[in-house]
Amino acid sequence: MLILGIDTSCDDTSASVVEDGTTILSNSISNQSEIHRKYGGIVPELASRRHIEMIWPVVDESLKTAGIQWKDLSGIAVCYGPGLIGSLLVGCSFAKALCYSTGIPLIAVNHLEGHVFSAFLEKNRLSFPFISLIVSGGHTCLYQIDDFGVYRELGRTRDDAAGEAYDKVSKLLGLGYPGGPVIDQLASRGNPKAIDFPRAYLPDSLDFSFSGLKTAVLNFVKQQGVANMEQRKHDIAASFQAAVVDVLVRKTEWAIKKMCIGRVTLSGGVAANSELRKRMKEMGKEREAEISMPAVSLCTDNAAMIAAAGYYHLKKGDVAGLDLNPHAYLPL
Ligand code: KG4
Ligand code: ZN
Repeated sequence: MLILGIDTSCDDTSASVVEDGTTILSNSISNQSEIHRKYGGIVPELASRRHIEMIWPVVDESLKTAGIQWKDLSGIAVCYGPGLIGSLLVGCSFAKALCYSTGIPLIAVNHLEGHVFSAFLEKNRLSFPFISLIVSGGHTCLYQIDDFGVYRELGRTRDDAAGEAYDKVSKLLGLGYPGGPVIDQLASRGNPKAIDFPRAYLPDSLDFSFSGLKTAVLNFVKQQGVANMEQRKHDIAASFQAAVVDVLVRKTEWAIKKMCIGRVTLSGGVAANSELRKRMKEMGKEREAEISMPAVSLCTDNAAMIAAAGYYHLKKGDVAGLDLNPHAYLPL
């Protein structure tokens, strides 16, 4: 079964053709980082305008790369939230128009659901229940996934998402946007124990909090003086990253223990982080838990994950109407 996935939830225009929820035939992404970099974050209006320009070329490219025609598709899966409303509108309107003109079924996919099932792309192993940690620029949450469509939230961030903290610290240090990849790189040459940044473990809860850590980095930079930052940026990056990773790994470990579930998926943009991937694998070994994560290229936003989740919807006969509307806020 071939599904075309479309994701325009944030600042990447992406389209992908996936077979049977796992095999990626194409995954085209038009990245907008260059446009937003000078503002230190995403400018929603610029993002929507760029999606309008890129949606058709990206979809066209993904069909050509997959070597298929419209008639070969069983469904078109589109991300309808959560995300930036103007950006979501472009993808949803485009997908609805495609379905209207071709008669192909429309499938509505929650962006977070896409991230959950991205861990199974290119691997055909989906056994329930499992714990899913989603760490991205907009979300940091733990779910128990009992079956396809049966999700239970175990914890979520009470303030900033982990990726948001990476982006804000990066801006503070003058390292540009997005912050995750650059801090990841700098941290590999710094001392993670150089500065003792706080870890908000929030005992008795699987919630997260990263705003205190962000403020601690800000206070440290102010105290030391911006002029001294150049020599210390590797240590700041490594110490900040250690604080984020310690909390994410510890909380996942708590969730494994509390729910007595030994299977975990890690996904979202921050799941591309080299230290987090390493530490999560080590924790899995210690706890004898199975840790699944997507390839690094499939952690950040992509449409293959939307097509994968769309496949499971279609298998259940869950098709959307052409009156589908996007939602900026859309719980899983
Ligand atoms: O999943 P994603 O592409 O978009 C959202 O749904 O938010 O995640 C983007 C986030 C950004 O905050 C970016 O800084 C972060 O993922 N990120 C990373 C890394 N690569 C991307 N964070 C830490 N380490 C990385 N290597
Ligand atoms: Zn995302």
